[in-house]
Amino acid sequence: MDLSQLSTVLTEINSEFDQRIAEASTLSVIDQLKSDFVGKKGRVALLYRQLGQIEASLRPSAGELINAVRDRIEATIEDLYPAVRRAERSKTIASDVNDPTSVILRSYQGSGRIHPVTRTRMELEDIFVGMGFSVEEGPEAESEWYNFEALNIPKFHPARDGQDSFYLDLDGDDQVVLRTHTSPVQIRVMQSQTPPIYAVMPGRVYRRDTADARHTIGFHQIEGLVVDKGITFGHLASTIETFTKAYFGPDMNARLRPAYFPFTEPSAEFEVTCTICRGKGCRTCSGTGWIELGGCGMVHPNVLRAAGLDPEVFSGFAFGFGIDRLTQMRDEIADMRILTENDLRYMRSI
Ligand code: DAH
Repeated sequence: MDLSQLSTVLTEINSEFDQRIAEASTLSVIDQLKSDFVGKKGRVALLYRQLGQIEASLRPSAGELINAVRDRIEATIEDLYPAVRRAERSKTIASDVNDPTSVILRSYQGSGRIHPVTRTRMELEDIFVGMGFSVEEGPEAESEWYNFEALNIPKFHPARDGQDSFYLDLDGDDQVVLRTHTSPVQIRVMQSQTPPIYAVMPGRVYRRDTADARHTIGFHQIEGLVVDKGITFGHLASTIETFTKAYFGPDMNARLRPAYFPFTEPSAEFEVTCTICRGKGCRTCSGTGWIELGGCGMVHPNVLRAAGLDPEVFSGFAFGFGIDRLTQMRDEIADMRILTENDLRYMRSI
């Protein structure tokens, strides 16, 4: 090889390098170029190894020619690094969107659920909204007046006994209790709306019970209230029947049995076909084929009056039942306490 041949090769190397570096936009491509051209086994290293083929007197000049190309390639690469590094970083940052919810959803996938009682409440709301009812809420800490008096539950009625209610130790004229049922929301709805009223009122209630397989001290009820002109017991019965079929299925029935509640007259307990035996009779329903779900009746004139409505003009019906009890029936839960114990074996099974 002579000097002119060498410089032809070097020109080739230079132009090839220029071509490839113009297309290089990532660090890994540039690293590859570096090793291809000026690395230990690269094109330039190969030329150094061929120096021996050049006449001895020409070797220093040959060496200088190669050095110049090597230095140029190395300098070009070094100059390029910072810009490419910066471009790569901003690309990573742009794709690595900092959305904390996505991290949470990813890491908790499959382990979060809606609580079964909440699910029942949502299903009930859906059904009643489909029947034209609105969904209302009231406070969990209530005055005695709303929780009892306005509902025609006089002083000294057993339901007011300290045994059943949690009283809050607050200063004030009015005694405040944790509501023992959702019925006080009826009063609030009648005070804030003018008939026609078609409302359901779900929520948490509290009783000083001893927790056992069928009772917890905090549970949930859903209350229903219809007030309009000309509302009859027939409307109540057909509403309960329509709801029962919508919630449990078309082969399920509801029946009403005479009962007593202070806030309705007449009053009834409503029962639905036993979900376990489908009406044939089993241990759960004590062989009757029916399971008691809640209470209902025609709103007592005293209750309408307490809420500021004239019982000569308006009539209405109300009903109330336990959401936890419904969940227990649907999911065949043996012991209600499991609903609040956060036992992971149960939580994962629902
Ligand atoms: N408040 C009653 C309870 O907690 C349930 C109830 C019965 C609600 C009859 C009503 C009703 O609206 O009409 O046991």
